[in-house]
Amino acid sequence: MTAERLNEIAPFRVMQLMERARSFELDGYRVVHFEVGEPDFPTAAPIVAAGHQALAEGRTKYTLALGIPELRARIAAYYGEAAGVLIAPERVVITSGASGGLLLLTALLLNPGEELLMPDPGYPCNEVFVGIVNGIPGRLNVDAEQGFQVTPDVLDRRWGPATRGVLLGSPANPTGSVIGKVALAELIEVAHRRGGAFLLDEIYQGLIYHDPPEYRSGLAVDPDIFVLNSFSKYFGMTGWRLGWMVIPEAVSDDVARLAQNLFISPSSIAQYAALAAFEPAAMEIHEERRQHFARRRDLLAQGLSALGLKIPVIPEGAFYLYVDISHTGMASEQFCSRLIDEYQVAVTPGIDFGHYQADRYVRFAYTTADEDISLGIERIGQALGDWGVG
Ligand SMILES: Cc1ncc(COP(=O)(O)O)c(C=O)c1O
Repeated sequence: MTAERLNEIAPFRVMQLMERARSFELDGYRVVHFEVGEPDFPTAAPIVAAGHQALAEGRTKYTLALGIPELRARIAAYYGEAAGVLIAPERVVITSGASGGLLLLTALLLNPGEELLMPDPGYPCNEVFVGIVNGIPGRLNVDAEQGFQVTPDVLDRRWGPATRGVLLGSPANPTGSVIGKVALAELIEVAHRRGGAFLLDEIYQGLIYHDPPEYRSGLAVDPDIFVLNSFSKYFGMTGWRLGWMVIPEAVSDDVARLAQNLFISPSSIAQYAALAAFEPAAMEIHEERRQHFARRRDLLAQGLSALGLKIPVIPEGAFYLYVDISHTGMASEQFCSRLIDEYQVAVTPGIDFGHYQADRYVRFAYTTADEDISLGIERIGQALGDWGVG
């Protein structure tokens, strides 16, 4: 009945955990949520107000496929202000979340059978976007010793005749690791020398905790790469479904044709609301939240380390910790299901992010209130003690 590609799309294990969590909550239990990959904060008030205004003004029609010119110009200006990079507004494409951007780029770049390289572990939907256009997701195994990032040497060796490009994330999901500036320049050099495209997912770029970050966008390292970003994470707008890309000018007509056909336009109301995301009042809120996430990262990392759990790389960004639980003797899926079933703590198993060393790792998202973080640490301590693996 359905196409074979459906066999290739794995369900998220975390969904089962979320269902378990929900049923515990319905039974009156307090569940600690470390599994959710979105900010727990509501969208900043100035953005919500701008959304209301957009509705009141009747801005409810399709917009241009690549987005409203005001927002494209505002984002281009943001790169100037934040990263010191001059970007022509014509290179900015507004998308339906970074997800919309990912589909546009795989459709733009890949012929059937061509490969896009990506890290394992990594953001799980990436390989689905590649598969949907009959491309091949090529996995680059990354481990803690390399800070969970691809090295230029590995990229060069892994590049094959069918490889069309590479998609990296910085900060990365699920590890939160950031690509250093020198390494980034070398990675881009490899892709370009090989005649391929370099795609950088910067959806967590606003959530870097090292002040100031080494660079504010990969575009500052090389202006000719493809950059994906979104209003979902730093700007706290997950449900508004809005993102953007910066693309080389040479492909903008092709992207426009694809965007017209696949999406017609991104959400009009979300776009007008997002204009307010860059206003000082909203930026102040985003910045406060970034600092709040940094404190939570430290709280959670210290608490888990004190319990003897290993965090091989203390991440510089995003809102995740990738924690090695191998010393417990349990595979990560078993660890996660026992933790939810017995202690009502929800954590995502490594298998949701790929195959490489997936049994060893679990992902904690610190998108949860500080007191829940403390409660979660307490419960995990109890669990490790009760299981005799603490
Ligand atoms: C690395 C990464 N890229 C892209 C996305 C998609 O985000 P959105 O479509 O909400 O912008 C996510 C969502 O979790 C992500 O973690």
